[in-house]
Amino acid sequence: EFHKHPKELELASNGITGKFDRRQLQRGFQVYKEVCSACHSLKLVAFRDLQQIGYSEAEVKAIATQWAIETPAPNPETGEMATRKNLPSDHFPAPFANDIAARAANNNAVPPDLSLMTKARHDGAAYVHSLLTGFQEQPAELLKKFPEAKTPEGLHYNPYFATLNLAMAPPLTGDGQVGYTDGTKATVDQMAKDVSAFLVWTAEPKLEARHSAGWAAVIFLLIFCVLTWGAYQSVWRDVK
Ligand code: HEM
Repeated sequence: EFHKHPKELELASNGITGKFDRRQLQRGFQVYKEVCSACHSLKLVAFRDLQQIGYSEAEVKAIATQWAIETPAPNPETGEMATRKNLPSDHFPAPFANDIAARAANNNAVPPDLSLMTKARHDGAAYVHSLLTGFQEQPAELLKKFPEAKTPEGLHYNPYFATLNLAMAPPLTGDGQVGYTDGTKATVDQMAKDVSAFLVWTAEPKLEARHSAGWAAVIFLLIFCVLTWGAYQSVWRDVK
């Protein structure tokens, strides 16, 4: 009864005619870049994929080389493992070297990869938006009913999280945390929406193609219906 269903989230990509709002995806990418990427990987996405959401080849190159985390690779001369600047063909590098390092930095929890998060959770995009905006004090009724369920030290109460207490501290904490350049006001709610929209794209970059293929199939089947009905009439026209 204390676990809540995600709040409804209106996104341009919703519904059978939905298309991505590329400006929103770019704002969401900015939130990922400036906030989430400190802890969460995005390992199924390559820098060059950003061209699909409206960045030019030159912009992608700059984003890759300026990315704060570099890609692990062997030094070409010595063969020793080191890091090098990212190339557009690299995938977003993980913020931690391995799960042990990730746990050490996050109260023994591993921040999950976000590439497919909006597919992995029920009502994915709405869930991410609700989770990011849902941190709160533990309700008094809950503590009265289940005193042993008090949020443990180092965890954070969130009614949208399956176990109610998660190891992620609220990542979006104040208006203007990310400097938007398109005039949109960067409220916590707006940033949460934008990053959710961005994660719909990372999880399904071909969503628009699927929607339009669906329409083409429906229209084809409608025409096909008319034709078969006509054929039926013509085949049986002499049988009374
Ligand atoms: C978990 C999103 C920033 C650390 C999660 C989950 C999501 C998420 C969707 C998964 C919840 C689930 O398993 O259902 C985001 C987004 C961020 C962000 C969109 C940026 C706006 C951060 C930051 C940190 C962090 C900056 C570290 C300082 C974690 C950890 C978990 C987690 C440790 C695992 C929690 C647990 O299993 O108890 N995050 N996160 N996140 N995140 Fe983040």
